[in-house]
Amino acid sequence: MVSAEEIARAAALLKAGGVVAFPTETVYGLGADASNPAAVAKIYALKGRPNDHPVIVHLASAAALGDWARAVPERAQRLAAHFWPGPLTLVLQRGSRVPDAVTGGQDTVAVRVPVHPVAQALLQAFGGGIAAPSANRFGRVSTTTAAHVRAEFGDDVECVLDGGECAVGIESTIVDLSGSQPTLLRPGGVPLAALEAALGEALRAPGAAAPRAPGTLAAHYAPGTPLMLVEADVAPELVRSLARQGKRLAVLSFSTMQPLLPGLTWRAASADAAEYAHALYANLRDLDAAGADLIIVERPPPRAEWLAVLDRLTRAAAGAQASDDEP
Ligand code: TXA
Ligand code: MG
Repeated sequence: MVSAEEIARAAALLKAGGVVAFPTETVYGLGADASNPAAVAKIYALKGRPNDHPVIVHLASAAALGDWARAVPERAQRLAAHFWPGPLTLVLQRGSRVPDAVTGGQDTVAVRVPVHPVAQALLQAFGGGIAAPSANRFGRVSTTTAAHVRAEFGDDVECVLDGGECAVGIESTIVDLSGSQPTLLRPGGVPLAALEAALGEALRAPGAAAPRAPGTLAAHYAPGTPLMLVEADVAPELVRSLARQGKRLAVLSFSTMQPLLPGLTWRAASADAAEYAHALYANLRDLDAAGADLIIVERPPPRAEWLAVLDRLTRAAAGAQASDDEP
């Protein structure tokens, strides 16, 4: 997988202000020294991301929280104890030494302790906080393999640590604990019900006053091909009728029964939400590469365990729509 020498080299590169792509259990991250504004600026430039958008600071353990957060409220301690290391990000009041480059100038900071062994090894070798957004161009589909990262950035990112496929496959759950009420900013790897059980209270949905978070923009996680989210029971008929009109289609279906139609690319997805999430971004990348006119995705059932997947699919559909509308 990744050797101790590679980890040492990557940590040295981070210390020198360079950028390292690394695996986490959710998706690959594009990392830089979170205490070095010039290094963080490089990730924004590589992603093509507006630089007033905040990034998550990755830490080796919750013990380092005091360097980044002004205070660690009881709720944060509780969630950290339950879910770290793991796919949960906490938004807290920022500490005084956190650079604006990390927070986008807001008075909060997002922190996460990943569980992936390569991420852990890198964090321990580096010794500080690693600022890392998902390793994809802004607004595009996140990456869950080292090959995806290379396809996304080519030689622009000199160091890509290959930790295999990300186990979870979609991003961390983000909970804002900076205000009086705990708020869900982004559903993700940790289910909402587990968070609420650990907290002993309900999480609020984000309101109009929520901080800027690109992962919460309507159009995000989008393939280049237009994507349509369709009720599973009407999908087969729609696919047949569009194919008859000569449309080339790429379909993500719950069925393995691929209709025999010309110009059709078919991916069968798991009916298990966790397995579906694990394969989601690889499936979207494959379908996007099929050269189709349209990607059709069968809508998963409206049940709690599908919340994070539905969120990503809805935004992918909006994103494909938005790029379709561009002049
Ligand atoms: O699973 C993940 O969270 C992955 C891996 C690499 O850790 N990272 C990730 O980063 O998804 P990114 O930048 O693609 O998404 C992070 C989200 C963004 O929507 C960002 O705006 C939000 O976290 N965020 C960061 N700092 C924040 C803050 N202080 N307040 C509110 N949202 C924040
Ligand atoms: Mg992202």
